[in-house]
Amino acid sequence: MLGEDIIICENLVKIYKTKDLEVLALQGLELNIAAGELMAIIGNSGSGKSTFLNMVGGLDRPSAGKLTVDGKNLFKLNERELVEYKRNTVGFVWQNNARNLLPYLSACQNVQMPMRFTGGKNERQRRERALELLEMVGMGHKKDSRLSQLSGGEQQRIAIAIALANDPRILLADEPTGSVDTKTGNYILDVFRDLNKNLGLTIVIVTHDRMLSKKVSRVVAIRDGKTSSEMIVKQSYADRLDSIGMFEEAHDEYAVLDKAGRVQIPREFLESLGVSGNKVRMEIEDGKIVISAPEEEPDKEPEGDGTGRQRAKQGRIRGTKEKAAPPGGKEPEEDA
Ligand SMILES: Nc1ncnc2c1ncn2[C@@H]1O[C@H](COP(=O)(O)OP(=O)(O)OP(=O)(O)O)[C@@H](O)[C@H]1O
Ligand SMILES: [Mg+2]
Repeated sequence: MLGEDIIICENLVKIYKTKDLEVLALQGLELNIAAGELMAIIGNSGSGKSTFLNMVGGLDRPSAGKLTVDGKNLFKLNERELVEYKRNTVGFVWQNNARNLLPYLSACQNVQMPMRFTGGKNERQRRERALELLEMVGMGHKKDSRLSQLSGGEQQRIAIAIALANDPRILLADEPTGSVDTKTGNYILDVFRDLNKNLGLTIVIVTHDRMLSKKVSRVVAIRDGKTSSEMIVKQSYADRLDSIGMFEEAHDEYAVLDKAGRVQIPREFLESLGVSGNKVRMEIEDGKIVISAPEEEPDKEPEGDGTGRQRAKQGRIRGTKEKAAPPGGKEPEEDA
């Protein structure tokens, strides 16, 4: 059951400034995530996925826009409040296990570590809670193992237990299955699904793995620091497929419309129309918005024999009232 939006991100901008370079990592990102949602973010390398997750996780400060998480305005938190926020509101799982686990501690000691910083539990309570969390991710039998004695998938499951140590409402995972095989990746996703279902935890997963992303109820694609399209599981299928653990082929795909009425048209679509300038024609026709190449591209000479332009005149992109998205069956984004 989904609640109100727990992550509200409006027109979020992040600029990284280095000595001689400015990188616009997020260019007005719009994305709301409901409490209790299990969703995935996909996108090419450098599109801004980790940047977004780091902003939500309080690991870095956004440059402009609005970001509210669990009722807290992340622009307004002072350093002390931000530390508190990182300890209690969000849990983080990284792809790189060395960042998640301390190598000289056992699994059980690792899970207790975050609890030491918050207080409130004595040693016995911390240990009990750690064992409970290890059981939850199916790792109770490895409680005494150290990092080097665990497989990549096992390390990831312990990383999830560590992220949950202080009972956060939100779990953020950046490429949690990036360094394990498909079978292990599926198992880790099952752990996320159980946590989502049983604890009502909000879970945001950044992934390159298309198969994995198809097993969650919503997939948002980021392109060049903006949300470009969304795939949402069809409700009628959801319950039926949930019982057998498959969501494949059950998503509806939408293009994302921002507050100013902008949508991103996939580059391949524009190329297939032969649009190379910065203008298109847009008309309403039979309750549909039709986008087509301009008759004449003012600042461009026709190339070669002009067949490109001929094709451009015929090509059109349609959007209907019900579905403002490109025609179905297409993936929102191709990984490079
Ligand atoms: N600390 C930083 N300083 C400068 N530029 C940065 C920094 N972190 C990220 N960037 C730049 O911001 C852009 C977005 O990076 P980000 O790490 O969010 O991409 P990503 O979608 O997570 O990519 P990947 O799939 O490769 O992990 C990139 O151009 C990257 O080079
Ligand atoms: Mg990344």
